[in-house]
Amino acid sequence: MKFLILLTLATACIAGPITSQAAIKPYVKPKSTDSRSPCPMLNTLANHGYLPHNGRNITAQDIGNAIFESTNWHSDFGIFPATAALKNLGLTALNLADLNSTPGGEHPASLTRKDASSGDSNTIDTARVTQLLADSKTNYLTVDSVAKTRNRLDSTSKPPLTTSQLGVAQGEAALLMVLMRDTYVSLQTSAQDISMLRAPKDRTRVWLLEEKFPTAQGWKPAEQVVQLADLGPVSTAIISSQAAQRGST
Ligand code: HEM
Ligand SMILES: *[C@@H]1O[C@H](CO)[C@@H](O)[C@H](O)[C@H]1NC(C)=O
Repeated sequence: MKFLILLTLATACIAGPITSQAAIKPYVKPKSTDSRSPCPMLNTLANHGYLPHNGRNITAQDIGNAIFESTNWHSDFGIFPATAALKNLGLTALNLADLNSTPGGEHPASLTRKDASSGDSNTIDTARVTQLLADSKTNYLTVDSVAKTRNRLDSTSKPPLTTSQLGVAQGEAALLMVLMRDTYVSLQTSAQDISMLRAPKDRTRVWLLEEKFPTAQGWKPAEQVVQLADLGPVSTAIISSQAAQRGST
């Protein structure tokens, strides 16, 4: 009997998918007293409990661990920007709302938030998300559609983005595309792979508006660890498309 149970368990393990990921921790809606940032990813990590749900007392290492554990992206995606922000803020641990400041990395012309000059750069602006999605005529965001969005936001931004803020905003658009992509493509191999990169609108809408991993819309953690080097080519493709759409190649 004991042997049979063991055999059943062993068989179940062998039969399971080899690439299975740990289940995503449940989403819990934030309370008004929870600290949240202008970054959709960090808010998502707190909403799912990969970061403290109250959004407080968070180190760079905590952020690195949370990103790796939830998405299978290299922890450097968290550690690098978080270390820079903590240094600029003069802190060793942060509350997510600390990032809603220029030293924290907040900038105008966001994809999902109004500008600080309009009084609130932390609350999601549904109209901005709707416009981001409307910049693509299909059911998917693409490098060209997010480049169109960036050109639109950059050209109307008050105040205008500084050169370094422009680079950061392009990097954030690239992060969005790589996180929301629907197929695994090896981004380091060829430009053709990048032209195939597409982010289904339904999952992107749920992620950005609810700051929830869109598992019900088919989103899954990456099958192979996503490396920092995967991001550069996507950023470069967005920059080229922006230039081409402005007619300034
Ligand atoms: C895998 C990791 C990450 C992803 C996928 C990600 C994604 C994004 C995206 C898509 C945006 C643009 C939102 C918008 O324009 O409305 C953004 C903004 C932002 N991110 Fe992250 N992020 C990540 C990690 C981090 C880390 C580690 C920090 C710092 C501790 C950070 C701080 C910020 C801040 C301050 C903004 C707001 C910029 C603004 O004013 O629009 N992010 N992030
Ligand atoms: C912040 O977290 C550290 C450990 O990560 C802990 O030692 C400290 O007591 C915490 N501080 C507060 C105010 O919760």
